[in-house]
Amino acid sequence: VLLIKNIGQLFTATGMGVIDNAAILIEQGKIHWCGPLKALPAVNPSETIDAAGRLVLPGLIDCHTHLLFAGSRAGEFKARMENRSYEEIQRSGGGIFSTVRATVDASDSSLLESAVRHVGAMARSGVTTIEVKSGYGLSWASEMRLLRLIKELATLVPVDIHPTFMGAHAIPEEYRKHPESYVDIICRDMLPAIAEQNLARDCDIFCDRGNFDLPQAVRILRTAHTLGLGLKAHVNQLTAGQGLRLIEELPLNSVSHADFLTAQDVAILQAHSAVVEILPFANLFLRVMPQVSAHELQEKGINLAVASNFNPGSAMCHDLVLAARLAVTMLGFSLEQALLGLTAHAAWALNRPDVGQITPGAQADIVIAQAASVEEFFYDWTTNPVKQVIKRGVALP
Ligand code: NIG
Repeated sequence: VLLIKNIGQLFTATGMGVIDNAAILIEQGKIHWCGPLKALPAVNPSETIDAAGRLVLPGLIDCHTHLLFAGSRAGEFKARMENRSYEEIQRSGGGIFSTVRATVDASDSSLLESAVRHVGAMARSGVTTIEVKSGYGLSWASEMRLLRLIKELATLVPVDIHPTFMGAHAIPEEYRKHPESYVDIICRDMLPAIAEQNLARDCDIFCDRGNFDLPQAVRILRTAHTLGLGLKAHVNQLTAGQGLRLIEELPLNSVSHADFLTAQDVAILQAHSAVVEILPFANLFLRVMPQVSAHELQEKGINLAVASNFNPGSAMCHDLVLAARLAVTMLGFSLEQALLGLTAHAAWALNRPDVGQITPGAQADIVIAQAASVEEFFYDWTTNPVKQVIKRGVALP
């Protein structure tokens, strides 16, 4: 039994809220007990960690990344900052296509080496579960290769890797005139092979102007659903399109971006349980702010996650705590909602009830912050926010 004692504030991400002067007992990688220190059951711990009055929270979950890629898009970044649009760059063969070319050309070892380095940095800053999408292959062979590499990545890092198939990240240039043929390949060849080899938990798609339209997205996600994959979609990043209609058709766990929302879209979100993944770095890199405030969505009972969206185009940053600090300072999240966005709500976006909360039975993924309180955690940007990370009950070096 591992005891964590002298916790100044315990952010549970459950209905128990924040517990002052708390303790946690961990047994066999799971949380056995948590509560006020004065109610600690009589135990003989084999190991004790003294949190010294600090804030303790669930291991953070980055529920949206595209971190397996090669190449740099610094030139495009400069062009965008000079007001060239993301869509125009993609239409002229850049954007996602430029990363596809670099990724297809890169060796397995170089892709893995950079992914391991990024995941290591993320783990040190408190991230204990990371969703990783394929989607820089865009052909049967290349997407399968990326999913196999994501599986290998999972064996090389000390955190959980949650693999998502995103063969529908863009319509490959050679299918531009007949996109249905690419949708056929995804539904007929890719998805069944992925399901059979258990290479992904979820299936994601880019349903927006110039990418997959609603009927194509429904076809792909319906096939994925039939094969037992969880569903999610990038929607309304570029336009107030029809993307939200997907959650009326199919049981999506989450949608991402959703920067352009009509009143009807908000009503659809309100009537369903899909989590909205808010991606502050994409707002900055694309210079597009959400049109409906986070506060308004939350008031309507819509659950918001916050993710890095780490990728070489719209978010060349994997600092999840920074994303949450921006959600607070720039997008109007309350401190508590921002922490839920990194924990419980992110877990729901991945349909992972075993992580994201500090409660008996949950996986013992725990972050001991430097700060003594939730306020200090969000306020002080000068120091590394994390003191110690515990994954499945084991302290990471
Ligand atoms: O979530 N919108 C599509 N996908 C990514 C960007 C990928 C890229 O530009 O390489 C996103 O922002």
